[in-house]
Amino acid sequence: MRQQLLNTKNQALALINEASSPEEIERLRIAFLGRKGKINQLLKKLPDLSKTEKAKVGKLANEVKQAIENALNNKLQVTSYKLQVADEFFDTTLPGKKPEVGHLHLITQAIEEITDIFTKIGFIRVRYPEVDWDWYIFEALNMPKDHPARDEWETFFVNEKPDPKKGKMVLSVHTSGGQIHEMHRLKGKPPIRMLNIAKCYRRQQDVTHTAMFHQFEGLVVGKGINITHLKGVLDHFAQMWFGKGVKSRIRPFNFCFTEPSFEVDFTCSNCMGRGCRFCKSGWHEVGGAGMVHPNVLKAGGVNTKKYTGFAFGWGVERILSLRLRLDDIRLLYESNLQFLEQF
Ligand code: PHE
Repeated sequence: MRQQLLNTKNQALALINEASSPEEIERLRIAFLGRKGKINQLLKKLPDLSKTEKAKVGKLANEVKQAIENALNNKLQVTSYKLQVADEFFDTTLPGKKPEVGHLHLITQAIEEITDIFTKIGFIRVRYPEVDWDWYIFEALNMPKDHPARDEWETFFVNEKPDPKKGKMVLSVHTSGGQIHEMHRLKGKPPIRMLNIAKCYRRQQDVTHTAMFHQFEGLVVGKGINITHLKGVLDHFAQMWFGKGVKSRIRPFNFCFTEPSFEVDFTCSNCMGRGCRFCKSGWHEVGGAGMVHPNVLKAGGVNTKKYTGFAFGWGVERILSLRLRLDDIRLLYESNLQFLEQF
């Protein structure tokens, strides 16, 4: 009887395979699986079998039924699909539809490009916490508590118990805290060539500021490092980012963590410095820089008798919106595909 079941299955599968219409498939379903179908006919002899044989045959019968059932269903799907397609005119010479392919976000692209420019000249990219202690963000950067300069960084404080030594927990307002972390990581031993790119947070929001933004910070410490090295790196970056002929200019400024301190401008790449509606003066300010203050080197454990260093810290969104000539930085964060797809 087992053999008979298997034969019936093979017969059914062969017929199903050849069927070409839903009606034919339905007929086969009745012929094999119907109440009076072939399988049930065979099973009529079941009571004559021994108990163990009954169980085995019963199991096999179920498997056979299942196999026929599956074959019927599959075939039904295929034939009804074929019929449907045959009804429509199908032009096989039409070019296919390409799936839409996205791309990395503009900011991510910019971060990758900046990383590339600096790592090619020996900088090492590092990452430090976005949520940090007051000590790294202010105190170690030569800004003692209650120093008025702290006001410039409109700080978000985290509702956590202050650390007895490191003070309050804050969202990092700049990437300069990374200078201290990096000097500690290297146990105060130059050469240090850090590139720290990270999210920063400040309580501000307008056409040129977002509460969350990105900065990239460079720190170079070694023997005999001076302003000409800083200037060389600035000019190099200006050309790589904005193109040939773009130069940097440094103007005196004040930061607690650098001495001397500068604000850095780049030639406007729109008018190449002649002055236009976009820049007015021929220059765009990009951010701060300076020679690392000895107190900062000391906080990082660097021997100030032997080593000096320079640092710079700029906004990713700032240099990106200058290159793209965006007049509203918030466009970068609106997830507007019409805007984003242009790049
Ligand atoms: N941290 C400064 C800022 O956020 C920028 C800066 C970095 C200035 C390094 C000097 C040196 O404005």
